[in-house]
Amino acid sequence: MKEVLLIIDFGSQYTQLIARRVRELNVKSEIIPFDKFENISKNTMGVILSGSPQSVNDKNAPSVDLSIIRKKVPLLSLCYGAQLIAHNLGAKVIPSKSREYGRSKIITVSQKGLFKDVKNNSQVWMSHGDTINDLPSGCKLLASTNDIKVAAYKIINEDTFGIQFHPEVYHTKYGKQIISNFLDICNFSRSWTSESFIESTIKKLKQKLGNDKVLMGLSGGVDSTVAAYLLHRAIGDNLVCLFVDNGLLRKNEFDSVLANYKDLGLNIYSENASDIFIKNLEGITDPEAKRKIIGATFVEVFDRCSLKFKNIKWLGQGTIYPDVIESVSATGGPSDTIKSHHNVGGLPKKMKLKVIEPLRNLFKDEVRRVGFALNIKNEIINRHPFPGPGLAIRIMGEIDVEKLKILKDADFIFISYLKKCGLYESVWQAGAILLGDSTVGVMGDGRTYEKVVALRAVESTDGMTADWCHLPYDFLSDVSNQIINKVNGVNRVVYDISSKPPATIEWE
Ligand code: XMP
Repeated sequence: MKEVLLIIDFGSQYTQLIARRVRELNVKSEIIPFDKFENISKNTMGVILSGSPQSVNDKNAPSVDLSIIRKKVPLLSLCYGAQLIAHNLGAKVIPSKSREYGRSKIITVSQKGLFKDVKNNSQVWMSHGDTINDLPSGCKLLASTNDIKVAAYKIINEDTFGIQFHPEVYHTKYGKQIISNFLDICNFSRSWTSESFIESTIKKLKQKLGNDKVLMGLSGGVDSTVAAYLLHRAIGDNLVCLFVDNGLLRKNEFDSVLANYKDLGLNIYSENASDIFIKNLEGITDPEAKRKIIGATFVEVFDRCSLKFKNIKWLGQGTIYPDVIESVSATGGPSDTIKSHHNVGGLPKKMKLKVIEPLRNLFKDEVRRVGFALNIKNEIINRHPFPGPGLAIRIMGEIDVEKLKILKDADFIFISYLKKCGLYESVWQAGAILLGDSTVGVMGDGRTYEKVVALRAVESTDGMTADWCHLPYDFLSDVSNQIINKVNGVNRVVYDISSKPPATIEWE
């Protein structure tokens, strides 16, 4: 499968959404930061320029050489991208009189081409501070709104389009239709599906790995299991899987995960390395430092274990796209580093094994679909995501064995009760967090000064954005009672009601 839609990212918060929409329409999409873009490849059948928090009038406004793209392949530019092309064509881009965020109504000039089947007066979503003042020369107007005249334009005799609003967000009623129309203009065959992903990935893995041996880290979660399955399908017994107990897993997790893997046909070895992890984390309070130490310790353990197996050349990882995106400016991308996900940002440069990551371009829900297509068990596919650094980033501040025990017990009560009440599968991710400070309480007739446990449960589709779950009060009340009564050292339970953004799912 060769056809690719290339998305050039100028740092927009919506870039991943563009990629998702395109894939939902069965076209493979790839994102490249604007400053890494050099040329289009022979597989590129269309390009989308993203928005940006910057203004084209800024001194160091991000840009690319548009002559590389224009007239070679169809080009759709969104928000900042549309302003950039207009600016290059000599049109004025000026600050909007009032900043335009949120809903607006579109008035299309004709319902053909890019706007085929898009209803007039339908809702579109705006998010911009600048506006295109006049229609760029050589262009024709495609759409306006009540507030702005140049809401969409096309360069005459060229498949280059500019749209001021955001077709990639759900709130733009016909946004998906507009993107679909663009993909038709590019002439995509729309053959990117889970099955085609599996087929092309296995082929690529075979070519890349040849007869080499791979050591794959399994975590029990969906990402590493699906990645291992794909590798197994590609190289069979040349894949050795290793499941490391880092001491930061949930209560009973090590044994239950091993039991789950039993009849999957993979070559699995387990290693208890808890002591090394806990020792390396001693005295560490900074979340980024914790992540990096855990990443480095994983690699150290893997490097050491790889000596047990002969001729290992590669380290397999279940890295997925949000891990890459949220760590991206660690490697120079235009968006902010939110967190260094341990399997991306935390790898030491001198690692002896080369890294192979078959799911690096997929979102979580896409990984799940691939997992279903591979017939992997429901228990594994539907498990809540769990971060690689484990409970270390759910204990605020320094980690020790006693705090780990408290958190494991509290988390076990929470998750078990979610399952018992039939709520587990309606929640995207849940877990308990142990806060750093103690608070005063009263138990029996005595004063207590003990820890606080926060409960977090979120709804999401891909982990990039999330909202807190409105769990029933009775459920929360029961969990709180159980934790305070059964877990020594806890006298208070709170529920996290923050969305992402502005918060993140994990607390560290
Ligand atoms: P945040 O906290 O960034 O989490 O909103 C988004 C998703 O990513 C998981 N997460 C991680 N996964 N290594 C991982 O493998 C990490 O370092 C890491 N940090 C967060 C988190 O559990 C959520 O599903």
